[in-house]
Amino acid sequence: MIKTEIITVDPEAIDQAALARAAAILRQGGLVAFPTETVYGLGAVIYNRDSVKNIFTVKGRPGDNPLIVHIYQWEQMTELAREVPETAKILAQRFWPGPLTMILPKKAEVPAEVSAGLPTVAIRLPAHPVAKELLRLTGQPVAAPSANSSGRPSPTRSSHVIADLDGKVELIIDAGPTGVGVESTVLDLTGPKLRILRPGGVTREMLAAVFGPEMVEAPSQINCVRPLAPGMKYRHYAPQAPLRLLTGEPEPVRGFLQKAAGEARSAGKQIGIIAYDEDRNPAFTATGVNFFSLGQRRNPTEGAERLFHLLRLCDQAGVDEIYAVAPPRQGVGEAVFNRLYKAAGGKVEEIK
Ligand code: TXA
Ligand code: MG
Repeated sequence: MIKTEIITVDPEAIDQAALARAAAILRQGGLVAFPTETVYGLGAVIYNRDSVKNIFTVKGRPGDNPLIVHIYQWEQMTELAREVPETAKILAQRFWPGPLTMILPKKAEVPAEVSAGLPTVAIRLPAHPVAKELLRLTGQPVAAPSANSSGRPSPTRSSHVIADLDGKVELIIDAGPTGVGVESTVLDLTGPKLRILRPGGVTREMLAAVFGPEMVEAPSQINCVRPLAPGMKYRHYAPQAPLRLLTGEPEPVRGFLQKAAGEARSAGKQIGIIAYDEDRNPAFTATGVNFFSLGQRRNPTEGAERLFHLLRLCDQAGVDEIYAVAPPRQGVGEAVFNRLYKAAGGKVEEIK
């Protein structure tokens, strides 16, 4: 155990001195958890190899799962990537700073610990003002996975980071809830097409609008057991209780949930229901039923913002089982579906 310092930084009135100190901790080899616009990240300077290894230790992260390198200006690309294709420039102009991670062939100087021995490196330029300023003051690329214990839902609030990493890292920077709520889109640029390895904040539709739909590949493996981004093969984003992901027309799904609520009450069980406002039912107020709203079905960004927090609330409520309604797979709804699918252990049930 070490003493973890926790500081609050207002993203609209950044305390320079506080971030300068955080940057110094990073440069000296410490681990700092910081906000990004997607989820909180756990950072180490990529050249501090022991610190990078320590990220894997404190998260309990499998060693074959590479980290994303965070930068604050485009010029740092050439420090990390062997070559920077024209496509990367277009992507950066259109989507950086923002929730997009590019996979490119790496330079030899990028330590193997960062890329888990792969010949490629994942690079992202985040949009959160605190992240940007921290990276600028640090002056060196920062490897940062999500700041959760491996396998747990990613952290969208500092309280989530504290729950998982207090006593294990030098500093946690609290800047309130993150905006996007699901992690960045991981995009492989090493092939002839753009391949989405993990759906996220920059959607397939947004990429297709720039490059044409035929240029964007979203392999079905992102929802399968053998995914392309190494990290996606583990049971992930998972609350403690088993989660059942339900698809189908709203009416039969609502009927199924109402029945589940009734059964939970008579069996004296606690269940969690993660669904949309429109799915609300008087039966959900019964004892034993914990209803958590993803907001309105037609607004997928709301669900994205809340998802990980709701999964953690299910844990806090100590539910025995969770039922989640699958979101429409459009826009950022695709990323929400993907995270729920992983939380369900790679299963989805169609309700008729
Ligand atoms: O939004 C985000 O991306 C957040 C914030 C902190 O930036 N970070 C994040 O990192 O989600 P992490 O480590 O939880 O997820 C990184 C994902 C993993 O699935 C990993 O396998 C994949 O990116 N990845 C990293 N480097 C890769 C590479 N060279 N090739 C393929 N996949 C890679
Ligand atoms: Mg993660």
